[in-house]
Amino acid sequence: MSYLKLKRNFYHLDNEDRKNFYYMMRDEFNKSKDKEDLIKRASYFIYLNKTCYNGLYRVNKKGELNVPYGRYKNPKIFDENNLKQASRLLKNVKILCGDFEIIGDYANENSFVYFDPPYKPLNKTSSFTSYTKYNFADDDQIRLAKFYKKLDKRGAKLMLSNSYDIEFFGKLYNEYNIKEITAKRMINCKGDRRGDIFELLIMNY
Ligand SMILES: C[S@@+](CC[C@H](N)C(=O)[O-])C[C@H]1O[C@@H](n2cnc3c(N)ncnc32)[C@H](O)[C@@H]1O
Repeated sequence: MSYLKLKRNFYHLDNEDRKNFYYMMRDEFNKSKDKEDLIKRASYFIYLNKTCYNGLYRVNKKGELNVPYGRYKNPKIFDENNLKQASRLLKNVKILCGDFEIIGDYANENSFVYFDPPYKPLNKTSSFTSYTKYNFADDDQIRLAKFYKKLDKRGAKLMLSNSYDIEFFGKLYNEYNIKEITAKRMINCKGDRRGDIFELLIMNY
C-alpha cells in the first residue's frame, strides 16, 4: 500500500506532468516481469487502472498495456477501505485466468455462469476484439456457443452478452432465450457513439 500512497503525489501535478508521469509508470509496469515484486506490480496496476482512459485494460501483440492517459480531475487512486473489503471478499475465492474452456471442470447444476466475451464486430470500424495479444474471431464465437451448450446440458444457469448481430447469434443460440437489451457504453473513441446501444443477452432459463 505504501506504493499507492506515494501515487498521491500525482494530485499536485498539472495535467501535462500527470500525463508524463502516467506514461513513465506505464513503461515501468510493462518492463517489470510477471513474477517480479508482485506487490509493486499490483500497486502500479491499480494506479494505471484509475488514471488510464476509461479504466480500460488492453494490451498490444507483445502483451504490453497500451491504454492512453485518461484526464481525470480527481481520480481515487488509493481507496484503502475498498481494497480491504475486496481483499476480505476474495479470501476464499479462486481466480483462474485463461481460455474460457478451463472453467469446464467447475461448472455443474449449482453454477451460474456469466459470459462477457469480446463482442463480434458489427462493422469494420467497430472491430475492437483484441483486449489481449490473441484475437477473438468468429471461430471462437462458435467454439463458445458449443461450450455454452455443453454447460447447459450439465444443468448450469447461463447468461451471455454479445453484440446485436441477430442473424449470427440467432443461429448459434436458437434453442435459448435471446433478449434484445439497451446498454450504456462509455468506451468509444467517437463521442457521439457513446451512450445507449443495442446488445443481445442470451439465457438458458
Ligand atoms: C467484453 S470484455 C469483458 C470485460 C469484463 N467483463 C469486464 O467487465 O471487465 C471481453 C474479455 O474477454 C477476454 N478474452 C479474450 N479471449 C478470451 C478467451 N479465449 N477466453 C476467455 N476470455 C477471453 C478478454 O481478455 C476480455 O477481458
